[in-house]
Amino acid sequence: MANLIINDIEVDITNGEKIVDAIEENGVPIGCSNGVCGTCEIEILEGMENLSELNDEERDLGMEGNKRLGCQCVINDGTVKMTF
Ligand code: FES
Repeated sequence: MANLIINDIEVDITNGEKIVDAIEENGVPIGCSNGVCGTCEIEILEGMENLSELNDEERDLGMEGNKRLGCQCVINDGTVKMTF
């Protein structure tokens, strides 16, 4: 079980699952869900190593550093702390 912390709200997520549903339930705006619109941009504060690698959609929308697309990230294990 992985742990996602969204602005101090903790959510348990099964290892290997996308985080999109959890972040939407906790206030992150979700648009296309397909890595096209960019509305789901999030900032990773801790635990970037516990997320999937950047994918092509994230690169195309300029995600770099601590920026990710919430609809594209998979949490592999451990704890990830994020804000938006
Ligand atoms: S919801 Fe559109 S890019 Fe994530």
